[in-house]
Amino acid sequence: MDKAESNEELAYTVNVTGSKHLAQACSLHEVGLLHISTDYVYNSQSERPFREDDTTNPQSVYAKTKLEGEQVAQMIHPSTIIIRTSWVYSSFGHNFVKTMLRLGAERDTLGIVADQIGTPTYARHLAAAILEMLHKMEEGEIADGHMRGIYHYSNEGVCSWYDFAKAIFVARGIDCQVNDITTDQYPTPAQRPPYSVLDKSKIKENFGLKIPSWEEGLKECLELI
Ligand SMILES: NC(=O)c1ccc[n+]([C@@H]2O[C@H](COP(=O)([O-])OP(=O)(O)OC[C@H]3O[C@@H](n4cnc5c(N)ncnc54)[C@H](OP(=O)(O)O)[C@@H]3O)[C@@H](O)[C@H]2O)c1
Repeated sequence: MDKAESNEELAYTVNVTGSKHLAQACSLHEVGLLHISTDYVYNSQSERPFREDDTTNPQSVYAKTKLEGEQVAQMIHPSTIIIRTSWVYSSFGHNFVKTMLRLGAERDTLGIVADQIGTPTYARHLAAAILEMLHKMEEGEIADGHMRGIYHYSNEGVCSWYDFAKAIFVARGIDCQVNDITTDQYPTPAQRPPYSVLDKSKIKENFGLKIPSWEEGLKECLELI
């Protein structure tokens, strides 16, 4: 996300041109496209969970190109399903949970941003939700009009990065003091929205999904790390 700020062209190539090529290929071969996007397409002063039809207001190169990637996919392949998700982590790759486990083992204190509010998403839960959606579509259990468009998915609940870090350390018994800091004290190249909680009513109603809490997601993930 931060690298996108200094390499706008590459971010555009991946997030917009890449999306366009996928949509063209899917359209040509008449196959479905499910595209993952981000909560960072939103930014507003109000503190109510975002709904899929809320006005977007992307603030970073990453978020702007992700939004354009959504739009190009929908234009070329109108049956595309877009899932906007947030704060994704898993036992694989680089992510906040793994970074906290590493830093927590190395340091006595850490300052973590407490004025950005959102919801962590355990990638395994997102993957399971997507598989359930596809299965229900295949089985003909989903109304036609519900099989396209934008959906939100994150785990249930709300927290700050500071809350999330503390929960990771408590769960693992890591003795590292976490101090709450502000976004100003931790400047990053890409601007993050202060509030990016997603309203998940649409995906729950249209696909009958039950969504675990972020605490359950963290517990399951830590069992695998
Ligand atoms: N992370 C978040 O908090 C978050 C939040 C909202 C939405 N999203 C969205 O979720 C998606 C995945 O993000 P992520 O954070 O999981 O990213 P990530 O950890 O960097 O994983 C990206 C994946 O894409 C693969 N990849 C990257 N460049 C590629 C290329 N040129 N050709 C083929 N594969 C390539 C990587 O392969 P390798 O493993 O081989 O490198 C990796 O498996 C993105 O669409 C992102 O916008 C992420």
